Amino acid sequence: MLVTATEMLKKAVEGHYAVGQFNINNLEWTKAILTTAQENNSPVILGVSEGAGKYMTGFGTVAAMVKAMMESLNITVPVALHLDHGTYEGCYKCIKAGFSSIMFDGSHFPIDENVAKTTELVHAAHNIGLSIEAEVGSIGGEEDGVVGAGEIADPAECKRIADLGVDFLAAGIGNIHGKYPANWKGLDFGALAKIKELIGDLPLVLHGGTGIPADMIKEAISLGVAKINVNTECQLYFQDATRKYIEAGKDLEGKGYDPRKLLAPGYEGIKTIVKEKMELFGSIDKA
Ligand code: 13P
Repeated sequence: MLVTATEMLKKAVEGHYAVGQFNINNLEWTKAILTTAQENNSPVILGVSEGAGKYMTGFGTVAAMVKAMMESLNITVPVALHLDHGTYEGCYKCIKAGFSSIMFDGSHFPIDENVAKTTELVHAAHNIGLSIEAEVGSIGGEEDGVVGAGEIADPAECKRIADLGVDFLAAGIGNIHGKYPANWKGLDFGALAKIKELIGDLPLVLHGGTGIPADMIKEAISLGVAKINVNTECQLYFQDATRKYIEAGKDLEGKGYDPRKLLAPGYEGIKTIVKEKMELFGSIDKA
């Protein structure tokens, strides 16, 4: 059964670890992440961007697939199905489709508009028992068409949004979606500490988890980050393993063209990186 992300993230703040949000694109991604979470007794959040939802033919398809797969694979660890960087309309679609958690990304709106829309969506989500994430200070880079300037969130604005009753908060602290450029300045821990001081124990979310060095991840967790989003790194592991399979000519041997064989190395690649992240985030055996 799907759960909200509220309880698992509260436990993560108390236990000083973080739960990974891994974005899904299709059946292989979903199965790889769910089985890795179960094998490692770790809570997990499946992230679905609006673009990936569309690709999978709609949020209803995604919710039905995840629920059925959890049952057939006998997944018993806590799993939240979460909309990633949702629009106002996307949030309502996921509420209707049976997601257990949503994110409203109002970071590109003026703060008053972000507050107004987040307020409404907090009520809509809580009315039917879903958890909700909000965002202040856009995340840099591009993800599925969502482009962010990479601002450092204003701590006072974070406090305003936190006070609306959101369950966890994404605050830009120099993090970027996709690969980090060579001249990246790193995370702004001063800003993170100020935000934490104002919002207390509300779980913080670190987007752009791909490529952040381990010491920065650990410091972020020590300053209240309890959810870390990883997307690009799973794609890169899938790509690398698939490339090696084809370059080695394995698709030309016997029935190597069978999609179940062709996609198997990429599937294993996703499992490898998801387990590595769970180890780094400290969520293993925390189910
Ligand atoms: P990366 O693709 O950089 O890992 O970021 C993922 C993310 O933040 C999803 O919201």
